[in-house]
Amino acid sequence: MTQHQCQEEKVWFARTEQPSAATEGLVLKSPKTFRVHTRAYTDPAVFNAEMDRIFNKTWVFVAHESQIPHPGDFQTSYMGQQPIIVSRGLEGEVHVMVNRCVHRGAVICREHRGNVTDFNCPYHGWVYGLDGSLLAMSERREAGGYADDFDAPKGLHRVPRVEVYRGFVFACFDPEVKPLLEHLGRAKTVIDRKLDMSPVGQIEFVSRPYVGRYQGNWKFQAENIVDEYHFMHTHKGFVQLQAKYGQTTGDFDVHKGGSVKAMRKVRFAGVTWDCVNGHGLVETPSGEIDSYLGGEYKEFFQGIVDTHGGEMLASMTGKLSAAIFPNMGLIHNQVRVWRPIAPDMTEVTIYPYELKGAPAGYNEGMLRSQERFYGPAGHGQADDVEIFARNQQGLAGSAVEWLILERGVDTDTQDADGNYKGLTTSEAPQRALWREWDRLMNPKA
Ligand code: FES
Ligand code: FE
Repeated sequence: MTQHQCQEEKVWFARTEQPSAATEGLVLKSPKTFRVHTRAYTDPAVFNAEMDRIFNKTWVFVAHESQIPHPGDFQTSYMGQQPIIVSRGLEGEVHVMVNRCVHRGAVICREHRGNVTDFNCPYHGWVYGLDGSLLAMSERREAGGYADDFDAPKGLHRVPRVEVYRGFVFACFDPEVKPLLEHLGRAKTVIDRKLDMSPVGQIEFVSRPYVGRYQGNWKFQAENIVDEYHFMHTHKGFVQLQAKYGQTTGDFDVHKGGSVKAMRKVRFAGVTWDCVNGHGLVETPSGEIDSYLGGEYKEFFQGIVDTHGGEMLASMTGKLSAAIFPNMGLIHNQVRVWRPIAPDMTEVTIYPYELKGAPAGYNEGMLRSQERFYGPAGHGQADDVEIFARNQQGLAGSAVEWLILERGVDTDTQDADGNYKGLTTSEAPQRALWREWDRLMNPKA
């Protein structure tokens, strides 16, 4: 094993409780400044504290119900670094359990998805029900088995709080956590608008997801999905491609603008939000709803106008994205999930979804458009993850201590609920993440 590998292992698997001093003073806030310390992205002690104080304490997105539609369906996932199983019981109820055998710790399920009647541990054969209850212990009384009064565990550890909003399953290890809708706050409006595009108000995860890893901190992805400042720069190549070829390469009307100048005008319209509880939003209504109402799918779009109004159609077909703290994003017709693996390693899963009841041609067009920008051979996601890795490499220059996140801090305005509204390229959505991060990481601060 090389020294490099040894160092990686040390970083990836050293999970020890750290003194709280490691997390204090890393976010500097004042009316005119907003700065984040390099260690918030690089320090293994900070990373370990994030797992305990954020991913074990707040709502984490774990699955969408359309991934487990039938009794016996399951999906494996993670809450921070804890492996979990999300399953559908015989009565249709959703269970979330730690994917760890209570005997001697083996992961019960290694498959990503499937359908089972029970969960059978591969090590010594203990059997668990769809709700995690212990159904059987193999050879219980044979060949040195357990005593009659053996205090058998009840089953897999169940995550104590599970709530579902419009098919989005969230779970939390803290039984005292606030209700999910309270946590979602204004971010709920983006979920609603995305789903209300469907004539029946539902989405389905039909296609296989794109899964990739990058060599950078998880918060780079959380910041970036609602970063309107970077697009014309990070995606310069895409912008030029779009200007030259436009629709002919399968954009499906998603990146409007045509020329670089026109695209800049589109990208720099709209507003951003720094929402209570850490959620960042981008809202740029489309200025071209007439083209939708006169186009190939006019009946579909007219149905949206009839039900929700023209203003909502403009919002839904414009740029509408969210970073829902701490691990889920909505952009385009996709749900994105990021999973922290190490301070400098993150896994991103992109689930393209379909609007249930929408024309098949519309859903297919949006899927092709996603492949074009986010897919393995796409133009956009590759640009972003390259930047995330560059960010991490750059932060090795620790002689420079602070990152600057105060763009727009002087023009943001606060509403009655405490949410800050910013101009399009304000770093308001990024500040949302860091406000909540600081609150959870330093609970007595
Ligand atoms: Fe699962 Fe032993 S570790 S049965
Ligand atoms: Fe990007």
